[in-house]
Amino acid sequence: MDLQKAQQVAQQSARVAGEQIRKFIGRPLQTLQKSSPHDLVTEVDKACQEAIYEILQNAYPTSGLLGEESVAPGAVAASLAVEQANQDLLWVVDPIDGTLNFIRGLPACTVSIGLVVEAIGVVGVIYDPMRDEMFSAIRGQGAFCNGRLMHVSTEQDLASSVLASGFPTGAYRGRSAEQIKRFGYHVRNVRAFGSAALHLAYVAAGRLDGFFENDLNAWDLLAGAVMVEAAGGRVSDVVGDPYCLATRHIAATNGKLHDQLLRDLDLDVPLA
Ligand code: IPD
Ligand code: CA
Ligand code: CA
Repeated sequence: MDLQKAQQVAQQSARVAGEQIRKFIGRPLQTLQKSSPHDLVTEVDKACQEAIYEILQNAYPTSGLLGEESVAPGAVAASLAVEQANQDLLWVVDPIDGTLNFIRGLPACTVSIGLVVEAIGVVGVIYDPMRDEMFSAIRGQGAFCNGRLMHVSTEQDLASSVLASGFPTGAYRGRSAEQIKRFGYHVRNVRAFGSAALHLAYVAAGRLDGFFENDLNAWDLLAGAVMVEAAGGRVSDVVGDPYCLATRHIAATNGKLHDQLLRDLDLDVPLA
C-alpha cells in the first residue's frame, strides 16, 4: 500500500475539518451531553466527521471507519467498537479532539486521523487548525510537523521534565488525580491542554517529555501513538504493556523517562 498517498489523503481531510473548527470555535452552538456531564458533543463534531469520512471513503472505498461520532458514548461501547473493527484497512478518526475547548473558545482542538493496516497503526495525522500545524507520521519513516522532521526530547531527568495529562470524562477521575499528584512531585511541571492528540503530537515534537492519561479511546490515541514511536519515543499502557488499539490507559514519553513515569503511575508503589 502507498502509505505516502494515504497520509496525504488523511491530511487533506484533516484540513477540511480544520476549516470548520476555525470557523465555529467559541461560537454559540447546540451542545449535547454524551456519557457524562464532562463529555460533550456539538453538531460541528458530527459535520467534521462526515466531511472526513467522505474524503477517506472516496479514496479508499473498501476501508473501514472507526470514528467517535459513530460509536455510542461510554467506555463499554468504545471497547466493543474496537473489537468489531477488524477490517484489513481501518481509519480511526476523532473529528475534534478537545470538544470542550472548541465549545469554550480555547485553542487546543485538533483533528486526529490514524490508519491501521492488518492490526498495526501505520499512519498518524494530527492537525491543529488554530496554529495551522500539521503533524504527521508513517511507521518507520519519521514524524514531521509542517514538513520539518520531529524528534522526541532528550530529557533524562524527571526533575527537569514537563509532562502532560488530562482528566477523564467518566470513571478514573479520582485515580488520575492521585497519579498526577504523585508524578507532580517529581517533575518540573505538568500541563493539561485538553486534547490528548495534541499532547501526543507535542511529545513527538519534543515540546513535552511525556504524557499520561486514563480511560481514553482508540480515536484519541492511535494517530498520536504512531507519531510518538516514529519520532523515537515509547508508547505503552500504564503497566508497561505495548500500545495497541484496545489500550485505554496510556503512557507516552521520549523513552528515557518511561520507566520512571510508570513507577509513579503505580499507586501500589510507595512514593519515594
Ligand atoms: C477528550 C480530549 C481530552 C481528554 C478527554 C477526551 P474529546 O476528547 O482528548 O484531552 O482529557 O478524556 O475525551 O471528547 O474532546 O474528543
Ligand atoms: Ca477525543
Ligand atoms: Ca472528539
